[in-house]
Amino acid sequence: MILTDDLMHRLVQAARVARERAYAPYSRFAVGAALLDERGRLHAGCNIENAAYPQGQCAEATAIGHLVLAGGIRILAAAVVGVADQPVTPCGGCRQRLREFGADDLPVWTADLQRITARFTLGQLLPASFGPEHLKS
Ligand code: THU
Repeated sequence: MILTDDLMHRLVQAARVARERAYAPYSRFAVGAALLDERGRLHAGCNIENAAYPQGQCAEATAIGHLVLAGGIRILAAAVVGVADQPVTPCGGCRQRLREFGADDLPVWTADLQRITARFTLGQLLPASFGPEHLKS
């Protein structure tokens, strides 16, 4: 699959729409994420907080759940949308979650409501990572 800028922008837009659904009454920090699977499908998610704070779920985790439920196997690209003074990058735990289904060259774009704020690869965000292939020897 060719990851054109147009496709990446569609992914960002899907993350913006998902962000509108964020359930974040405690932090009031709404996040949306969207993932492209190996069949060219988009799967989105928002953060879902909880009165028992540690039980809150990041937008990326919600999106991964949707991808897996739809039968997706690989993540080919990811977008994360949040409004802050600096790019809203996936937290450490979500970098590892993305790693389960994505390669080092997986593009991870961050954006706010108007523009792309940063472009990374998963390998940049999570270097020398541990993944499923470590368990295959
Ligand atoms: N959050 C995400 O959903 N994804 C990120 O990439 C960063 C943080 C959420 C978790 C929590 O609900 C809120 O943002 C504030 O940390």
